[in-house]
Amino acid sequence: MKHLLQISELNRTQIEQLLQKAQAFKQGIKSTNKNSHYLANLFYENSTRTRASFAVAATRLKIPVLNLDLASSSESKGEVIRDTIDNLAAMGIDVFVIRHLQENIQASLAASRNDIHIINAGDGTHAHPSQALLDLMTILEHKPDLAKIKIALIGNLCHSRVANSLQCIAKTMGVGELTLIAPQLWRPQTIHFGRYTESLADGLADADVIICLRVQRERLLDSDRLDLTSYRQNYALTRESVVFAKPDAIVMHPGPINRGIEIDSDIADGLQSVILQQVKNGVFMRMAIIDTLIA
Ligand code: CP
Repeated sequence: MKHLLQISELNRTQIEQLLQKAQAFKQGIKSTNKNSHYLANLFYENSTRTRASFAVAATRLKIPVLNLDLASSSESKGEVIRDTIDNLAAMGIDVFVIRHLQENIQASLAASRNDIHIINAGDGTHAHPSQALLDLMTILEHKPDLAKIKIALIGNLCHSRVANSLQCIAKTMGVGELTLIAPQLWRPQTIHFGRYTESLADGLADADVIICLRVQRERLLDSDRLDLTSYRQNYALTRESVVFAKPDAIVMHPGPINRGIEIDSDIADGLQSVILQQVKNGVFMRMAIIDTLIA
């Protein structure tokens, strides 16, 4: 593996190896990599979890990190991303974690150089592969038999890169059932895997895993706007709606959370919630991703 661009490029064995390595790091096993590397975080969209998690992961691997402040970088003077990367690579940086509004930009940058590693930390509404991997790691810690489980994914599916990557990983790993729950206006544009339903009760029925997505207000066009009060009434994860799923269902959310919109605080902070476990696992999964790319 040279880059991590999208889940659909990984086969089942590669995903299993990443899961195994992430679990080994979680158990305290050290990396065997002895070469010198340098990682740069280039985030053209805001982030808390992904940016910090890659920085913590690299630091734990003893890889120094440059968090480039793009607002004060020379891109404000007209430099293009390709030149930014060429210049940072000339200084010896060889791992680039990139989040960008433009879909597939990481793939086009990866195609132009073979001496660096590029990790897609989110490209527009297209893909967020490290999120899908850390989500799978968290699911497996609670529900190890993927073929026998039902996952319910709720939210703004037409704008969600998390939903796209989750569908791809569920398909590759043979998840038993995946329901994609959204109002008609936000139904997925393309379904890679799973069944779409407009009904929260139908989609959540007997679910083992509930993944609640953020209402991405910043991505909504005027034509996509829903009344948030009505969205909350019909799709929010609340004490009343969570009971449609199995009593031992786990509740996940990639973050950031809009409390009181897509999820209530007593569910986000409740006994079924594994949201902070996702964040914790994110560090180990990102250590596994970096360590695999530089191996
Ligand atoms: N889940 C996720 O991508 O969160 P951030 O936007 O904070 O990185």
